[in-house]
Amino acid sequence: MSAAATTATKLLLSDLAPTLTNVPSDYIRPISDRPSLTDQTHISDGSIPLIDLQGLNGPRRSDIIKQIGQACQHCGFFQVKNHGISEAMINNMLSIARTFFKLPESERLKIYSDDPSKPTRLSTSFNVKTEKVSNWRDFLRLHCYPLQDYVHDWPLNPPSFREDVGDYCTSVRGLVLRLIQAISESLGLPSDYIDKEALGKHGQHMALNYYPPCPQPELTYGLPGHTDPNLITLLLQDDVPGLQVLRDGNWVPVNPIPSTFIVNIGDQMQVLSNDRYKSVLHRAVVSRDKERISIPTFYCSSPDAVIGPAKGLVDQDHPAVYRDFTYAEYYKKFWNRGLATECCLEMFKASSTV
Ligand code: OGA
Ligand code: NI
Repeated sequence: MSAAATTATKLLLSDLAPTLTNVPSDYIRPISDRPSLTDQTHISDGSIPLIDLQGLNGPRRSDIIKQIGQACQHCGFFQVKNHGISEAMINNMLSIARTFFKLPESERLKIYSDDPSKPTRLSTSFNVKTEKVSNWRDFLRLHCYPLQDYVHDWPLNPPSFREDVGDYCTSVRGLVLRLIQAISESLGLPSDYIDKEALGKHGQHMALNYYPPCPQPELTYGLPGHTDPNLITLLLQDDVPGLQVLRDGNWVPVNPIPSTFIVNIGDQMQVLSNDRYKSVLHRAVVSRDKERISIPTFYCSSPDAVIGPAKGLVDQDHPAVYRDFTYAEYYKKFWNRGLATECCLEMFKASSTV
């Protein structure tokens, strides 16, 4: 069968990729927008700060908050260790994801959908309905807070999925709440400002990303450069490198450190901080011989909450950079517009006329 005929018969990349020796044309990026994988090898990891959270509620608090603030301001990314989530829970989560993507095609297809408004769905690439070039990724997307509103819709296979993934979500939420308290303080806001004033009833989404091995990784992306639309993302990745972060105009790989989380500032935090903290471009490249799993938790406001620059960060010298808007409005734009290096925030500037 030709590659084109195979493409037409498979919805998910995990079922298509093993049959291919070349990347199909709809996955190939224009020459000006390719990963340039060979350029990366000389850059070592450790390029984003690693922050030890041990003692966050003790004598080291002010020092840790300072480190977090510096990282949010200068890098938009940091990694955390001693975050309180056990190695066993992390390894189990990665193993559930691996098992899920190895389920028979017919089982996985039961929850396939290309409708971004569906809270539980398995899909591929980013938004197959609107994008021009496909991405080398399948993903299971879940809404996870409040858990009881969504868990009944989650996969039943592997059998421990609902219970174990639910526990993981609850633990990650606990860590996020500690981090957003610290971030509020680092901005000079009351420690409960983001939790209580900015996020409404709160929201939490998660993706289980599966990047199959790719015969020509230099031609395509797992995910092209983008910023995250939400408030803050906690990424768990397995031991296969792939994440790259834009720093001073260079794409810098963030090589995996076992049992750490990668934390990044999303667009909502950039707005709330009135541009003090930046939502930074990042992307995922793929590997020739190894599959890769990553599991981002996207913490956000509830869809109806009004997001805008915190009043405490707006004054005559620092006028509001953005207008107020709801996350529902923003989120819809994000999915329809597709992943683009120019993030959606431009459209929400106080001075924007679009
Ligand atoms: C994302 C993302 C990076 C990765 O899902 O938004 O940036 O390494 N993922 O999978
Ligand atoms: Ni992202």
